[in-house]
Amino acid sequence: MGLPTAYRPVYSTPAPRTSKQRLSKLAAACVLLLLALANSPAAPGALEDAAWWLKSKRPLPSEPRERALALLETSPVIDGHIDLPILARAFFRNQVDEIDLDGAVRGHVDIPRLREGRVGGFFWSTYIMCPEDAGYPLDNDGNFTTPTHRVRDTIEQIDVARQLIDKHSDTFELTLTAKDWKRAIKKGKIGGMLGVEGGHQLGSSLSSLRAYYALGARYVTLTHTCHNALADSCGMQGTPITPRWGGLSPFGRVAVKEMNRLGMIVDLSHTAPSTASDALSLSLAPPIFSHSNARGVHAAVRNVPDSILRRIGRIGNEGREKVDLSKDGERGLGWGNDTNEAEKDIPSGDSLIMLNFSPDFISEWGEEGTRANISSLADHADYIGKLAGRQHVGIGSDYDGIGKTPVGLEDASKYPDLLAELIRRGWSDEEVRGVAGSNLFRVLQKVEKVARSQREVKPFTDIFEGRDDMKRRDHF
Ligand SMILES: *[C@@H]1O[C@H](CO)[C@@H](O)[C@H](O)[C@H]1NC(C)=O
Ligand SMILES: *[C@@H]1O[C@H](CO)[C@@H](O)[C@H](O)[C@H]1NC(C)=O
Ligand SMILES: *[C@@H]1O[C@H](CO)[C@@H](O)[C@H](O)[C@H]1NC(C)=O
Repeated sequence: MGLPTAYRPVYSTPAPRTSKQRLSKLAAACVLLLLALANSPAAPGALEDAAWWLKSKRPLPSEPRERALALLETSPVIDGHIDLPILARAFFRNQVDEIDLDGAVRGHVDIPRLREGRVGGFFWSTYIMCPEDAGYPLDNDGNFTTPTHRVRDTIEQIDVARQLIDKHSDTFELTLTAKDWKRAIKKGKIGGMLGVEGGHQLGSSLSSLRAYYALGARYVTLTHTCHNALADSCGMQGTPITPRWGGLSPFGRVAVKEMNRLGMIVDLSHTAPSTASDALSLSLAPPIFSHSNARGVHAAVRNVPDSILRRIGRIGNEGREKVDLSKDGERGLGWGNDTNEAEKDIPSGDSLIMLNFSPDFISEWGEEGTRANISSLADHADYIGKLAGRQHVGIGSDYDGIGKTPVGLEDASKYPDLLAELIRRGWSDEEVRGVAGSNLFRVLQKVEKVARSQREVKPFTDIFEGRDDMKRRDHF
C-alpha cells in the first residue's frame, strides 16, 4: 500500500473563494471584532469558536469527495477503536524509541496517514488477550478468581499508549473530556482517550476499573472473546460458546453502575446479545458498540442483531410501534426475535454503533479472498441507519487490530472515501458529520452528564463473589 510521504496539516486547506464566502468572511470579521470588544478576557475560547462556527457554515463543494473533505475540516474523524498499543507490544515489545509515528509505521496508522485521513482523534484501545486465547486454561473453570498478569499487562498497554502520546505531544493529546477533545481539534491536534478492550482485563475487580479511569480510560468493553466476571461474550466466529451468566452477571451489573458514576462509556462490542440487551436496559448513560457491524447484512457473531438495532431505532418512539422483524435482514430468525427485545426501553435514550472495517465482519469471503470494499461497508452504514437511525452510526475501524482491510480502506488515510460514498448515497451533511465524529461527541457528553449527576454517589466497593484471597481478619 502506498504511504503518503508529505505531512499535510489538515486544518488549513485553502479553498477557492466565492462571493458568498467573501460575504461570510466579512461577517466573520465583524463577529470577531464584536467579540474582541465585548468579552474576550472572560471567554478566551470565544474568538476561536466564532471563527470555527463560521468555517463550518461555508458553502460546500458538490463533488462527493471534495464535500467530504470540506465537512471533515470542522468535523474530523473520531475513530472508536484503534489498536496501535497492541501493535506496539506485539511488534516492538513496547520500545517506544523504535516506533516513529512521524514516519511510515507498519500496520495501518501513523501520523502522516492520520492527517491524510482527516482524523481528529481516536480511542487508543488497550488490549490483552483472553487467557483462553493466550493458551492458558479457562480462568478457574469459569469462576474468574485466578490471579493473573492481565492487569499488569493492561497497565503496560496504557503506559505504552501514553508514552506514544507524550513522544508526539506536538500532534497527540490525551483529552479526558469531550470539551478538551474538541478544544484540541481546534488547535489542530489529534485528541484521544483510552479504551480497555475486555472486562477480563479488570482481574474481577472494580478497583482496576477506577484505576484505569484515573489513567485515562473512558470506555471498557464488557467482554472480549471470553466470558468474564462481568458478562457473557459472543465468543468467536465458528466456535460456539456456552452461556455462563446469560447476560450481565450480578457483579457486572454493579460494574455498569460504577461506570455510569465514573463517566466511563459501557462498550458492547464483543459481548453476547444477552449482555448488550441487559446493559441497554440498565445503563443510565448511552452504551456504544465501539467496533461492530450488522448481522442483518452479514451474519457474524460480532455484529449487532436486528432486534437490538430496531430497539435503538425506537428511541423517542417507545410504546407506539410494534416492530416487525420478519422483513429485516435476519428475516425474523435472529437473536431476540421471540423475547420482545425490539420493544424494550433504553433508559439512557441513546447509543452508537461504530462501523468495523474488518472484512470478516463486512461480507462473505469469496474463492479469491475478501470481497469487502467501501461499498459493502457502506451497506452496513445504510442498514444500521435504516433500522437504528443514522444518528446512531459512527466509525470504529479496528485498524492495527485486523489482519486484512477492505479494498479502498487500506489504512487511516482512507476515511474520507467512506464518507464520500455515504454522500453519494444521499446522506445529508449533518448525517455525515455525525458518522465522522459528532455522534460520538453527543454520546460522550451524555455519559459525562450522567456522571456529573451522580457526584454524591459513593464508589461501589463490591468484591467479586468467590474470591478467597481477601478474607476478613481479626489480626495480622
Ligand atoms: C467454581 O465455583 C463453584 C461454586 O462456587 C465451586 O463449586 C467450584 O469448585 C469452583 N471451581 C473451581 C475450579 O474453583
Ligand atoms: C425465531 O427464530 C427461530 C430460529 O432461530 C425460529 O425457529 C422462530 O420461529 C423465530 N420466532 C419468531 C417469533 O419468529
Ligand atoms: C464492492 O463489492 C461488491 C460485492 O462484492 C461488488 O458488487 C462491487 O462491484 C464492489 N465495488 C467496487 C467499487 O469494487
